[in-house]
Amino acid sequence: MNLEELNDPSESIHRAAEIIRRGGVVAFPTETVYGLGANAFNPRAVARIFEIKNRPHFDPLIVHISEFEEMSKLAVPVPADARRLIERCWPGPLTIVLFKKKEVPDIVTAGLPTVAIRMPKHSLALSLIRESCCPVAAPSANPFGYVSPTTAEHVREQLGERVDLILDGGPSAIGLESTIISFSGEKPILLRPGGLSLEEIESIIGKVELNLSEEAAPASPGRLPRHYAPRTPIVTEGWEKNLEAYRNGKIGFLAFRENRLSFPFHHVEVLSPGGDLREAAANLFAAIRRLDALNLEMILAETVPEVGLGRAIMDRLRRASKRSEVDDATQE
Ligand code: TXA
Ligand code: MG
Repeated sequence: MNLEELNDPSESIHRAAEIIRRGGVVAFPTETVYGLGANAFNPRAVARIFEIKNRPHFDPLIVHISEFEEMSKLAVPVPADARRLIERCWPGPLTIVLFKKKEVPDIVTAGLPTVAIRMPKHSLALSLIRESCCPVAAPSANPFGYVSPTTAEHVREQLGERVDLILDGGPSAIGLESTIISFSGEKPILLRPGGLSLEEIESIIGKVELNLSEEAAPASPGRLPRHYAPRTPIVTEGWEKNLEAYRNGKIGFLAFRENRLSFPFHHVEVLSPGGDLREAAANLFAAIRRLDALNLEMILAETVPEVGLGRAIMDRLRRASKRSEVDDATQE
């Protein structure tokens, strides 16, 4: 069963929830990107997620909940700052890493003593979790190392044959994965910039340390240098000075705002004509996919200001552009 048309959303959700309760795997929409979900307390069902994505087992999953009370099944006491963030930002594009309860299966957390938890802000996702009667472990619904899906069609193209059902909730409103903050140390640490801006987080709990380094990569492969990468090489910094060198190539342009370059690009994708970072974030992954389908030699990507969602956009672009430094064996 593949793409589930939403003629009757509640019927689709009943069927999806039934599949999850029986140990199956369902792709579902969230406000950030599409997820690939299974019952977090069923290790065999979770193992199928890893198989479908071709994801290494050292890469832990986020557990999705629909009610605050579900936290108590997953994590031991929640620090005060984490609680304040949760109260203000859930449901929403924020994932919190906390020490886990022993009942949370090791396959979900890749053997780590911590678990990542989030409450998505999407009515289909929340209904699905509620009707499934269990927390839902879900990574983004893409093959490991590739760009996250922001439509049901993206999921169908890459994983359609392999999942039990795809719930279609239209394009993801935010288009970038959630922001991840760890509360497992003395101070909160930002592990992944994402759909909730650092500015907003710091306005609630004060200064947050950044740890976006690659040292902890095995514990958080979203931070592997070349993650979120299309097949086509992407260059995101320094190309402007050297543009003439690309003149004879089949080159695509990922423009942040309206394209003002008079260069014969094979194809141009404009993320936000007026230069709005939210609009750019929402369009980013679909634009990268369209460019990647054109067999280009190279994609040149314009940089965006590193404020608000711009931080997460640049994080994804830099990782997508860092291909030569990582052994391909760590990808896909
Ligand atoms: O917006 C999102 O977060 C989406 C939607 C579906 O919710 N999910 C998502 O999942 O992006 P995934 O698996 O593609 O990325 C989750 C990241 C990974 O880089 C993983 O390593 C990290 O979260 N992570 C999960 N559990 C962790 C933990 N206990 N400690 C540190 N990092 C963790
Ligand atoms: Mg992912």
